[in-house]
Amino acid sequence: MVGSSVVTLDNIPIPEIRVLLDKAQYIDSHRKEVANTCTGRVLATLFYEPSTRTRLSFETAMLRLGGKVIGFAGAQLSSATKGETIHDTVKVVSQYADLIAMRHPKEGAALVAAHSSDVPVINAGDGGHMHPTQTLADLSTIQARFGRVTDLTVGLCGDLTFGRTVHSLIETLCRFGNIRFVLISPDELKTPQYVLDRIDASPTCSYVEAKDLSAVIGDLDVLYMTRVQQERFFNEDDYLRLRDTYILDTAKMRLAKPKMAVLHPLPRVNEIAKEVDDDPRAAYFEQVRRGMLMRMALESSVLGDELPGYETSKEVLA
Ligand code: NCD
Repeated sequence: MVGSSVVTLDNIPIPEIRVLLDKAQYIDSHRKEVANTCTGRVLATLFYEPSTRTRLSFETAMLRLGGKVIGFAGAQLSSATKGETIHDTVKVVSQYADLIAMRHPKEGAALVAAHSSDVPVINAGDGGHMHPTQTLADLSTIQARFGRVTDLTVGLCGDLTFGRTVHSLIETLCRFGNIRFVLISPDELKTPQYVLDRIDASPTCSYVEAKDLSAVIGDLDVLYMTRVQQERFFNEDDYLRLRDTYILDTAKMRLAKPKMAVLHPLPRVNEIAKEVDDDPRAAYFEQVRRGMLMRMALESSVLGDELPGYETSKEVLA
């Protein structure tokens, strides 16, 4: 994967994803040893859309590997306001940086950037399409909780139409296989057909669609909650009507399995009551930490910078 852009995780073979999961574990327990892995490297973060954790996570990851960061947060601070195209901006920035992480409100923007750039581009979210590094954080959290990312019943709840993290996660879990998806949403926010087709095309995966979270929560190993994506709605009234459809609280948690893991890409609005944070099944803050570790693994791998002392074990490649 050295030198490759990551527009979706489909660009990365499953054994390589396993190596990334393994590297993140190694990085976590060898923070000092890896602190100079990317010395002399520059990461550029081009964020045309609001972000707190994703941008800071990409940047912290590079800083913790010994590299440096440049970039902008908000299109209003870039030459996009003067009419510059993504192609030109990325072409220019790729003369400065060794690696680019880009977030953009338009689906397909990351692909355009990857074609334009002279250095690898990592998609940090393109509209309602994909968010591959969030999926790496999600996989790492599921792996840590269950020791595997297959043979699970995974419920995804909330805005399944516009939630790019949902689309990315389903796509990748389908490749690992043996997943029963429970897709919980109101009628207006159902999973797009291209994502359902993906599940249908995976022989060991299946899905059911549901509306009532309480009715299905007891079946789930993983519950992936999502925010209703206000910025992707055409109509404010629809947003206001739908935003509080699902609120996970301690009463609903009592219906869930004792080992169910609750994930959320964050930011949350109302969809998880704060009281759930103290439940050991709440995994969303752990997910944030694992996201940074996975970005460290990804950035160093794409740059081809070896982690000192790391060797891929046979079990990981098996
Ligand atoms: C997600 C995103 O930007 O898609 N946030 C994130 O990157 N962790 C989810 C969201 O904004 O709801």
